[in-house]
Amino acid sequence: MDWLTFWDAKASAGNDFQATGRGLMDVPGYLNTVAEIVRILDLHQGDHLADIGCGAGLIAMTLAPWLKRVYAVDLSPALIERASKNLAGVNNVDLKVGNLTELPLTDALVDKLLAYSVLQYLADESNVSQAMHEVARVLKPGGRALLAANPDPTQRLVYEAVVRQRADQAAAAREISLLDDLLWLPEAQLLELAAAAGLKARIEPIDACIWQHFYMFDLVLEKSK
Ligand SMILES: C[S@@+](CC[C@H](N)C(=O)[O-])C[C@H]1O[C@@H](n2cnc3c(N)ncnc32)[C@H](O)[C@@H]1O
Repeated sequence: MDWLTFWDAKASAGNDFQATGRGLMDVPGYLNTVAEIVRILDLHQGDHLADIGCGAGLIAMTLAPWLKRVYAVDLSPALIERASKNLAGVNNVDLKVGNLTELPLTDALVDKLLAYSVLQYLADESNVSQAMHEVARVLKPGGRALLAANPDPTQRLVYEAVVRQRADQAAAAREISLLDDLLWLPEAQLLELAAAAGLKARIEPIDACIWQHFYMFDLVLEKSK
């Protein structure tokens, strides 16, 4: 799958949730997502945050008033364009086109890093390994990363069954056909790849208020001081 073309096309969707693949999310779900990010990353006012796979910039917009600076990066130039319109007038967010596997950020730049629902769009395990090394490189010593919402291969059939029950059968079929193109790495494999990049890693469940919680898990990474 050519994810760059896929996400560039999404950028012209009718609203920002749809443009970032959050079309099924309601407002309480989004607010719970933000709360979970703040809690897991232990965000503070002085923090520099990298938001990788920022999409239309909704999470950057929500968090920027509470942080020192946000470096928002996305693979899709069209989504970065949409994010720059959303963030017009916000002066502590830097937007850049870039890839999680080769971040356009300098070494030890950020206290915290977020990549929400991004890892699954990498092609293979070696790309994930590159991404982990990039996370380790751009984090300051003692920094923390949240690679959130990774699809769990043990829950794939459960998820497919839920999608099949949707009223819009054509949309359900399209979504199921995309599942083969996502990267479904087991928790243990992600923990090993993180350790190989020198990061301490743990798995966290996703809050039950967030609709994807039943088939996805969060990965939390820490760089030693
Ligand atoms: C499901 S959306 C999530 C957007 C946003 N993080 C959120 O949670 O609302 C995935 C985003 O990741 C971006 N993306 C996909 N692969 C990427 C990569 N290798 N590097 C950086 N961004 C990527 C897509 O363009 C898209 O904006």
